[in-house]
Amino acid sequence: MSSGTRPEHPSGERRPVTLPMISAMKEAGEPIVMVTAYDFPSAQVAEAAGVDIVLVGDTAAMTVLGYAGTEPVSLEEMIMLGRAVRRGLETPLMVGDMPMGSYESSNELAIGNAQRLVKETGCVAVKIEGGGTSVERARAIVGAGIPVMGHVGLTPQSANSLGGYRTQGKTAAGAARLTEEAVSLQSAGCFAIVFEAVPAAVTELVVARLEVPTIGIGAGPATAGQVLVFHDLLGIGTGHVARFVKRYAEVGETMVAAMSAYAADVRSHAFPGPEHVYAIEPAELDELHRYFDQEGLASQATWDWEPLP
Ligand code: KIV
Repeated sequence: MSSGTRPEHPSGERRPVTLPMISAMKEAGEPIVMVTAYDFPSAQVAEAAGVDIVLVGDTAAMTVLGYAGTEPVSLEEMIMLGRAVRRGLETPLMVGDMPMGSYESSNELAIGNAQRLVKETGCVAVKIEGGGTSVERARAIVGAGIPVMGHVGLTPQSANSLGGYRTQGKTAAGAARLTEEAVSLQSAGCFAIVFEAVPAAVTELVVARLEVPTIGIGAGPATAGQVLVFHDLLGIGTGHVARFVKRYAEVGETMVAAMSAYAADVRSHAFPGPEHVYAIEPAELDELHRYFDQEGLASQATWDWEPLP
């Protein structure tokens, strides 16, 4: 990437993405690319693809931990996943999602847990969901020196109170509420705000009233950037896929086909083949045969072993 706001090192290497670079990209109209990652290999993929922001999302609850929703995932689990992601990233800005129960009840709890995420995973910023009391929590965390990304619209941690995983801001009153939340999160100091499952026309009206970069997921093209869940965009895993997801591959099908071929090869003795085994010097093997004969151990070996390379 050589254009605009994400300067390259003279060597041609990408530089680590910073908060000012994210704001500058928004100002320059340069789309911000964000994706989730949950472990070392997914982080390496995001790094190699040159994305701008990697979110260690609490969607990990479903994508890698097998829970039915985001509610059960703990801060400890998020920290363990975040540490693995950190080891796979060099340049994208890393954001750690604060899981349900880790920030809502007090500013002290929110600051303490945001500090844990930053100190223990190496993320640069944290994300919290919703307006209401989350605005005060965001202000407190920002006040403690930790950048915060907001999240409005469909906020999965409160899916039960929203009546499920539903599009938000579909009525004028709902859209006005969402606007008020986004503006308040901006005033609280959030450096960026995720818009999830919001009608495109509503997003367009709201983002025009905001200065901070907005990142959309199911919110149309008006946001400064887009985010997708790693497993959704790569086609890993089964289950319902939201309308807003674009599949760029069917990696899950490829994995099952490869695993089935491996199982068939093992069962038919096609694997391992001679190219997959280590050899021994013929003289050493002869000596082993002599030892077996001497000890009265009949050799069962039938393979015509190749000498060591
Ligand atoms: O947890 C997550 O993956 C998220 C994204 C969908 C924005 O919050």
